[in-house]
Amino acid sequence: MQFTSEVSVNQPVTCAVVGAGYWGPNVARNLAHHPLTNVRWVIDRDGSRARALAHRLPDARWSTRLSDALADDDVEAVAIATPAATHADVATTCLEAGRHVLVEKPLATGVAEARQLVEVADRAGRVLMCDHTYCYTPAVRRLQTAVASGELGDVHYLDSVRVNLGLVQPDVDVVWDLAPHDLSIMDLVLPTDRRVTGVAAQGADPLGSGRPCVAHLTMTLGGGALAHLHVNWLSPTKVRTLVVGGSRRTFVWDDLDPAQRVRLYDRGIDLDPEGDGHTGAELQRRIAYRLGDMTSPALREGEALADAVAEFANAIREQRAPLTDGYSGLRVLTVLEAARMSMQHGGVPVPVTAPAERPAALAVGGSSCR
Ligand SMILES: NC(=O)c1ccc[n+]([C@@H]2O[C@H](COP(=O)([O-])OP(=O)(O)OC[C@H]3O[C@@H](n4cnc5c(N)ncnc54)[C@H](O)[C@@H]3O)[C@@H](O)[C@H]2O)c1
Repeated sequence: MQFTSEVSVNQPVTCAVVGAGYWGPNVARNLAHHPLTNVRWVIDRDGSRARALAHRLPDARWSTRLSDALADDDVEAVAIATPAATHADVATTCLEAGRHVLVEKPLATGVAEARQLVEVADRAGRVLMCDHTYCYTPAVRRLQTAVASGELGDVHYLDSVRVNLGLVQPDVDVVWDLAPHDLSIMDLVLPTDRRVTGVAAQGADPLGSGRPCVAHLTMTLGGGALAHLHVNWLSPTKVRTLVVGGSRRTFVWDDLDPAQRVRLYDRGIDLDPEGDGHTGAELQRRIAYRLGDMTSPALREGEALADAVAEFANAIREQRAPLTDGYSGLRVLTVLEAARMSMQHGGVPVPVTAPAERPAALAVGGSSCR
């Protein structure tokens, strides 16, 4: 493998896709049809899946062996949509072969292997991006702006419900399957002084499947804020709501309501900081109820994966870390692992310490593989 710096910033990034099961075809379709990327190889252990997907894409080859794609010098990047337990191995192989990597959530199935993966990417100077797809939805980008601009004020609480009749996964429980979506949104939008500091989680396995299928996570955040997350594979109704309450406004996202996907409420309770009464009439004197407007901002409609793919390609060409880099994947895993430990011990609160931040000086390598 040779490395050159000759690739033009306008040249599409040539990719291989590993994993042609349920999600891989969505990733492949977006990579194949985005002007910044194309797909040269589809790899799956199951040759019939790889062949079927490759035949739906322009100019894609297929194989059951990753080594075939890595032997192709035109392949600059690999998108990995295999089961979670395989992510670390497949991604490490690709990074060590000098390829940029887009890996599905969760980044890995443990903090230690995720940390190693981030280190391998840093050493190789390659982009490691975690496909935290929801971070690329227009609603979450609007939420990010609302928090960062101060429109919401100080964040007081987050409440998320993500339930539906889901597939019982072979290698992960409902928390590791669904909670990465919400945890990655929190990681993206909340200021660093509102990172998760502890988690108490309870899960239930009423089916006897060997893994929790219903779970509740209560998380303490910096600054005294609180977050709650309900994830469930057993609900006959699908619910996707996120409420983020701030001192000025409350952001309500209902992903299943296309007419008013996002609402911003100027309604809440203000407490007069003057005075120190916390009971009775003195407390009532300090409380003011705000009954302002509700607005529903217009959002661009678009497929989040297309924006994720564009971010991946732009990060490669601009030699920078992507919005949802390996470090964000690692921080999400830190919370997931604390939740796992809490569930194993009957829901006791487990502290989440030392979130992994990307070192400021770390650069993504300037060369591309050819
Ligand atoms: N970002 C999202 O919104 C989203 C949505 C769904 C799934 N996912 C993620 O996508 C990943 C895949 O999920 P899925 O539901 O498509 O799984 P799946 O089981 O349907 O498909 C996985 C495919 O990978 C293949 N495979 C397994 N190990 C392999 C290996 N070592 N090399 C090559 N091929 C291999 C299998 O043969 C299978 O075809 C998971 O990490 C999941 O969490 C993400």
